[in-house]
Amino acid sequence: MSKMNTAYVVLLLLIEVLMRGARLGVDALSVNYYGMACPFVEPIVRNVVNQALQKDPTLAAALLRLHFHDCFVQGCDASVLIDSTNDNTAEKDSPANQSLRGYEVIDQAKQIIEMQCPGVVSCADIVALAARDAVIWAGGPYYDILKGRRDGTRSKIQDTVNLPAPTLNSTALIQMFVGQHGFTVQELVALSGGHTLGVARCSSFKNRLKNFDATNDVDPSLEPNFAKTLSTTCSGGDTAVQAFDSTMNTFDNAYFSALQRGWGVLTSDQTLFTSPQTKSIVNAFAMNQAMFFFIFQQGMLRMGSLDVKEGNQGEVRLNCRKIN
Ligand code: HEM
Ligand SMILES: *[C@@H]1O[C@H](CO)[C@@H](O)[C@H](O)[C@H]1NC(C)=O
Ligand SMILES: *[C@@H]1O[C@H](CO)[C@@H](O)[C@H](O)[C@H]1NC(C)=O
Repeated sequence: MSKMNTAYVVLLLLIEVLMRGARLGVDALSVNYYGMACPFVEPIVRNVVNQALQKDPTLAAALLRLHFHDCFVQGCDASVLIDSTNDNTAEKDSPANQSLRGYEVIDQAKQIIEMQCPGVVSCADIVALAARDAVIWAGGPYYDILKGRRDGTRSKIQDTVNLPAPTLNSTALIQMFVGQHGFTVQELVALSGGHTLGVARCSSFKNRLKNFDATNDVDPSLEPNFAKTLSTTCSGGDTAVQAFDSTMNTFDNAYFSALQRGWGVLTSDQTLFTSPQTKSIVNAFAMNQAMFFFIFQQGMLRMGSLDVKEGNQGEVRLNCRKIN
């Protein structure tokens, strides 16, 4: 055998070993995890997401939030998608499911993927891809998604205590994101910038509008005219919604400019500007969208790797709403 051929055979063996690693899930998450087993998974998810968003642009926010809620409860394992049964109340039925939406988009992608490569692609990976594609669709940054997450077999209402409450201040947010989950403070601020998309219900911010504390009727960090706007929204009841920024379906840095004006919707939004620990980061992102995008990508990569199940852990769910 010539040297060339030997080199060629060695290369093939190497590729085979690498592929086997991917199939067995021996390796950590990887970009090419489904390379052979389901090569078209990314374009399938992208098409389904694009079609859904063309009909309803507000679903971009919903898909991004779904991934966040998935990853912060039990790791990114699609536990958020499980339906409750007679003997189990699932995460999605907690009050903290807070108007989560977009489940049908995930179901639709899963259905098409199951026809092409049955039993191969996890629901958790589909959720991560759909969130990424929603961000791009809305004008945000592109980032590669590592794949190979396995789906979890537990989804319990009580686990949703791990989600941050909208009333948290920056100290508590830093405790949760940096202390508990290993994000940087910059990543906490950039990920909060996910609120460049979507809306909040009055029930999520009415704590700021009256009886705020003994001395103030209204949260003093709220700009007075915006306080009126929020009150007007709330006159429509607890489920009336307020956009987080002036461009609710566009992924941009308007959220950070809003915080600078005292136009943050949630306590957990405005605190990022009032707290000296995070204020300079808000100012930087308001001035420099590219910097926001860059740190957001890094934060999303870290978020998408939180407590992931790999290899023989968990399962690949056949129906994203049901444990196999
Ligand atoms: C920093 C801590 C966070 C808190 C306290 C928080 C809280 C909330 C609350 C209360 C709502 C409104 C829910 C409602 O009233 O219906 C909301 C919406 C939303 N959140 Fe967060 N969130 C946080 C971080 C994040 C992160 C990290 C992301 C994604 C990267 C995210 C993405 C979204 C999106 C896109 C919406 C709008 C959903 C829609 O319009 O359907 N949030 N969040
Ligand atoms: C969210 O939980 C409420 C109960 O708190 C339930 O009525 C609602 O159907 C749930 N939403 C979803 C999308 O599961
Ligand atoms: C933040 O919230 C925590 C818990 O509610 C509270 O103990 C702390 O004093 C608050 N910090 C600031 C700076 O307001």
